[in-house]
Amino acid sequence: MLSFIWAEDAKGLIGASGQLPWHLPDDMHYFKRTTMGNTIISGSRTFRSYNRPLPGRENIVVSSQKNFPDGVQVISSIEKLCDLIEQHADKEYIVTGGANLFSQLLSRVDRLYRTKINAEFDGDTYMPPIDYSLFDKVKSIPGVVDEKNKYPHTFEVFERKDH
Ligand SMILES: NC(=O)c1ccc[n+]([C@@H]2O[C@H](COP(=O)([O-])OP(=O)(O)OC[C@H]3O[C@@H](n4cnc5c(N)ncnc54)[C@H](OP(=O)(O)O)[C@@H]3O)[C@@H](O)[C@H]2O)c1
Repeated sequence: MLSFIWAEDAKGLIGASGQLPWHLPDDMHYFKRTTMGNTIISGSRTFRSYNRPLPGRENIVVSSQKNFPDGVQVISSIEKLCDLIEQHADKEYIVTGGANLFSQLLSRVDRLYRTKINAEFDGDTYMPPIDYSLFDKVKSIPGVVDEKNKYPHTFEVFERKDH
C-alpha cells in the first residue's frame, strides 16, 4: 500500500527554499514515529533536505541522478516505483514528499497522514490539490502547543474510500 506523510500550513504551503517553512518538533516526532520501521520514498530535493538516509527506515529516492549515499535505493522512474510497490502489496510505503513526487502519485495513494498547521508562513512549494471526497478521515488528534511548538496543529489520517 502507498501512503503520503506531510505537514501543511493553513494555505497548503509545505516548503521554503528547499526546507520546511516552520520549526515544529512535535511534528518531527510524529513523522519519526509514523515512518519508523517502514520504507520511505522521497523526491531528490526532499532527500537533500535530510542530507542522509533516515535511520531505522528503508530509504528510497526517486531521481534521474545516481550520486546518493550508501543506504539509499535510487529508483529512476514512477513506473519502476509503482512496480516495486505492487510486488510487495502487504508492505506500507510512505512517500515523504515533496510536491513534485506527491503530484505524480496522487491517483494511487491509499492513506494520507496530514499535519494541518493553523498558521501561515512564507515559502515557494505547495501541496497539490487533493480531492478529499475520495477519502474518509479516520483520525484527527490535536498536537501539543507549548514553548517549543508555537503553532496549533492537528494530526489527521485519511483512508481512500474504495479500500
Ligand atoms: N511540509 C512537508 O511535510 C514537506 C514534505 C516534503 C518536502 N517538503 C518541502 O518540499 C520542497 C521539495 O519539494 P519539491 O516538489 O521541490 O521536490 P521533490 O518532490 O522532493 O523532488 C523533486 C525531484 O525528484 C526527482 N524526481 C521526481 N519525480 C521523478 C521521476 N518521475 N523520475 C525521476 N526523478 C524524479 C527529480 O530530481 P532529479 O533531478 O534528481 O531527477 C525532481 O526534480 C522542499 O522545500 C521540502 O522541504 C515539505
